[in-house]
Amino acid sequence: MGLFDKFADIADLYAHLTKDGVAPVGTPIERVLSPTRGIVDGNEVILAGTNNYLGLTYDPACIEAGKAALDEEGTGTTGSRLANGSYQSHHALEAELSHAFGMRSAIVFTTGYQANLGVISTIVGRGDAIVMDADSHASIYDGAKMSGADVHRFRHNDAADLGKRVKRLKSKVGDLLIITEGVFSMLGDRAPIREIVEVKRESGAYLMIDEAHSLGILGSRGLGRAEEEGCLQEMDFVLGTFSKSLGSVGGYCVSDHAGLDAVRHSMRAYMFTASSTPASIATVRAALSVMQARPELRTRLRLHFERVYAGLKKLDFVLGPEPGPVVAARFEDPAEALCAWRRLLSAGVYVNLVVPPATPGQYSLLRCSLSAAHSDEEIDRILAGYSRIKS
Ligand SMILES: Cc1ncc(COP(=O)(O)O)c(C=O)c1O
Repeated sequence: MGLFDKFADIADLYAHLTKDGVAPVGTPIERVLSPTRGIVDGNEVILAGTNNYLGLTYDPACIEAGKAALDEEGTGTTGSRLANGSYQSHHALEAELSHAFGMRSAIVFTTGYQANLGVISTIVGRGDAIVMDADSHASIYDGAKMSGADVHRFRHNDAADLGKRVKRLKSKVGDLLIITEGVFSMLGDRAPIREIVEVKRESGAYLMIDEAHSLGILGSRGLGRAEEEGCLQEMDFVLGTFSKSLGSVGGYCVSDHAGLDAVRHSMRAYMFTASSTPASIATVRAALSVMQARPELRTRLRLHFERVYAGLKKLDFVLGPEPGPVVAARFEDPAEALCAWRRLLSAGVYVNLVVPPATPGQYSLLRCSLSAAHSDEEIDRILAGYSRIKS
């Protein structure tokens, strides 16, 4: 058996997906024109699959900050946070995150993936247990696997199921860590975080929330799902990414446990990788200020996603349970989903096609993510594109 034989099935699947035109996975965006426009397959399209929720990738203040950092501090740090890669700006961003969340500790990572990998794999270990939502992101699964703790999954967004599992485990393990996401990346639905907090309180477990798809979107200050539900201070660890609402790259963990700071010296995903570039850090700091100063961006985003959700429902698409920044239409058959994706693209609308095993259940999804930067006319055109699939 050759080294690559085991990839034959996946290679066939991708060959099949690309044989009749532009690749629906890893789609080349030939040029980016704005937060909401790009060139795909030679044509100008509306970008509605980018996670650029606040549309900040072209924000003048963010671009200016990034350019200034390039000029002043160069292209990269060329080292890990524990060696030569902790610039004053990395520390300043950590202080700003601590302040924004009202929590004592904050750690900035090079990506959101590494934030989950680093924190989860380090704070629990053999003899402990993790109970996580079954639909958690791959970075949560990977961190859990690396930790050496016993890993248990509770039914997606089912706090009663979580409660049962935690009760069974409580007396048998050391520390117990519950993990959920604020808004789930595939269907855009929200965690029942208050009910999950009840389970945490009753059991004495630690609670971690990944706010990757809720930072900048939910809560009166845009801090995410826990803030929206008034239980931010119940979170032991809030993780997230800079690669969505903040339009850059990187990740963070904030916590009111002062002990988090010492964990830096044990996290391999933090220690053995180069730190974020000065320009990335500068754009994130500027974006965080914009997010705080302009709540109207999340109001606008909400109007867009509620409109798209209602519009697709009317067109009889099968959607997730509630409107969210991600509106995903479900297809039983991947071939049908691919055909719909191509029709949307030919109507000038780019969304994400997601096929199993990356999706919950065995469905394929057309995953549309909205942006505050979409104009009302672009939302009309997105809806018109979907109506072409049904005609
Ligand atoms: C829920 C969730 N967590 C973590 C990540 C990883 O973030 P990053 O892209 O910054 O590595 C993602 C990215 O898709 C995500 O959806």
